[in-house]
Amino acid sequence: MTPRKIQTGIHWVGAIDWDRRLFDDLIPLPDGTSYNAYLIEGSEKTALIDTVDPTMSHVLLNHLDHLGAERIDYVIANHAEQDHSGTLPQILNRYPTAQVVATPKCKGMLADLGLAPPDQVLAVDDGATLSLGGRTLEFIHAPWVHWPETMLTYLREDKILFPCDFFGSHLASTDLYAADEGQVYQAAKRYYAEIMMPFRRIIQKHLKRLESYEIALIAPSHGPMYSRPEFILEAYRDWVLGDPKNVVVLPYISMHGSTRMMVNHLVDALVERGVTVKLFNVAVTDIGELAMALVDAATIVIGSPTVSTGAHPNVVYATYLANALRPKAKFASIIGSYGWGGKMVEQITGLIPNLKVELLDPVIVRGHPTDKDLAALDKLAADIAEKHSTLSLAEE
Ligand code: FEO
Repeated sequence: MTPRKIQTGIHWVGAIDWDRRLFDDLIPLPDGTSYNAYLIEGSEKTALIDTVDPTMSHVLLNHLDHLGAERIDYVIANHAEQDHSGTLPQILNRYPTAQVVATPKCKGMLADLGLAPPDQVLAVDDGATLSLGGRTLEFIHAPWVHWPETMLTYLREDKILFPCDFFGSHLASTDLYAADEGQVYQAAKRYYAEIMMPFRRIIQKHLKRLESYEIALIAPSHGPMYSRPEFILEAYRDWVLGDPKNVVVLPYISMHGSTRMMVNHLVDALVERGVTVKLFNVAVTDIGELAMALVDAATIVIGSPTVSTGAHPNVVYATYLANALRPKAKFASIIGSYGWGGKMVEQITGLIPNLKVELLDPVIVRGHPTDKDLAALDKLAADIAEKHSTLSLAEE
């Protein structure tokens, strides 16, 4: 692929990673991803905004060759993580007089990661500006989207926001702009759920601050750009600030069918009471799908058999992730079956200190559920429906 012109003097020079299927050896990438970088030419200086994952450094260097970029004055490092700053060494090797521009914290992290020597990094304060000649870059510190050192770059005259990971999506596409908003919405929601949701509270402040900027284009460093910025800003406001939905997320495992029987019964009982259920068999589920469902569910119910004395290890993993992602759920419960004993409830409740939830009475049964156990599940469904009725709920 060749560089893509955004407007005169502004080019996309990133790399599309069609084949990548896992990020951080953790996050599934069903649609691949991209590492976007942007070359901005002023009348006096040239800046490169972000680089690319080091596995694709040759793509960025080829783009710069193609554009005949003989000189780069500034390399803006919005974020130290290697998928954006990992090609800094090759860029600085080719353009040895270039200065890296970063937050003071990022400067330290770039040194720690061996990506840029401190004497080649200009640390900029929040709100600082840099003139390229006819074009002005403004740096907006935005810690915790999703590392502590991050910043956004705003190109004043062109009203373009370069927010790096913020508003991004793991989506490999030849579309420079979000043409299929339905597809991009799903990819961006998955990205938010996996990467940004734990920082929901601080992101609220960043969203508020951006209201004072006139933004014509959002150019993130993953996925397509947004020529209709309100599309992604509105989606973020909903995910971050919106009310939860009348939804139960139910990750579960069943080894011999008892827990599955309980899950089936609870699902039917909830649906009868008008509650939507999103069910995930965590033996096989894509954890990104589970994370997306957690963005707006009002309740989480964990379903597990007992293995030895605790929950099934896959359920422990899903519970740990849910706790780490800090979703906005208000209620939680646990259902499952045991053979001869165990401490599953204590174990699972101990795994979710970050969830600000009210725990509804768990239903834990010995062996196959009896009629009495099924009645307890009916009561749990009724309790959930009643609790949801007390909330201000968002439309599904
Ligand atoms: Fe896309 Fe946090 O790196």
